[in-house]
Amino acid sequence: GQALNNLKKSAEIKVTDLTATLEGVASEKSFYGDLTRPSEPIELGSRHPISLVKNQIIEVFNRIGFTVSEGPEIEDDWHNFTALNLSEHHPARDMQDTFFIEQNPDILLRTHTSSVQVRYMEENKPPIRTISPGRVFRNEDISARSHCIFHQIEGLLVDDNISFADLKGILHNFLNVFFERDLQVRFRPSYFPFTEPSIEVDIGYQGEDGEQKWLEVLGCGMVHPNVLKYVKIDSKKFQGFAFGIGIDRLAMLKYGINDLRAFFETDYRWLSHFGFDPLDVPTNYIGLSK
Ligand code: PHE
Repeated sequence: GQALNNLKKSAEIKVTDLTATLEGVASEKSFYGDLTRPSEPIELGSRHPISLVKNQIIEVFNRIGFTVSEGPEIEDDWHNFTALNLSEHHPARDMQDTFFIEQNPDILLRTHTSSVQVRYMEENKPPIRTISPGRVFRNEDISARSHCIFHQIEGLLVDDNISFADLKGILHNFLNVFFERDLQVRFRPSYFPFTEPSIEVDIGYQGEDGEQKWLEVLGCGMVHPNVLKYVKIDSKKFQGFAFGIGIDRLAMLKYGINDLRAFFETDYRWLSHFGFDPLDVPTNYIGLSK
């Protein structure tokens, strides 16, 4: 009987101890919650339409051997203007109303990514095939169709035996692939100081009344020999062409966006309409050192 009583007592002590320990754990658990439960869902972002379209453009040009080059948004006069055949008092500077940061010597927010092409040609010799995406800045009123910040991809090809036919073929092919249809394309004479001849490219569509209409989508031309001379490329041996694509413009056309300001408003509800595309990450990415 005594032995049984001792056994009962020591069993009771063990049970009380264990109960206290387990209750302690339980109260800790309710304090922290169940640590094994799945977490709250994290909302995944989606790519910004400007990035989507930028990557789609890069993808098309990557396939035909163009690498991506980048340069600074704050530029000097040489790379943004002078080396592009826009000398100090050239009237065509007025076409790009510029934000200056410092004057004498002039430091400015780049007005186009053509400046990256100058940097690229200073560092690389032909054959050259590169596209330069990036933000550019011009002192323009903000409206549904214009903004003081916008995005460009400019392209450059320099090699021997390059003619206007190469420019036409490559750009027409790009537009067909990008818009996923057989487009009518019109090459219209224009003027840029850094190309000769200079061309503006329009795509054709049927108006509501069935009438043939044209919409300008990009500027391009054969690289001016002066530009090649400035970057010490022999223009007797090499020719090239360049083009400038407005990413915002193409994104508006592709997705039917009619107000440019939406790109800058960061409204998540609007942005989430544009899906995340894991295949849109560019592969051939090369940054410039300067
Ligand atoms: N740099 C020009 C612009 O921003 C576009 C362009 C690029 C035109 C290359 C011709 C050749 O207006």
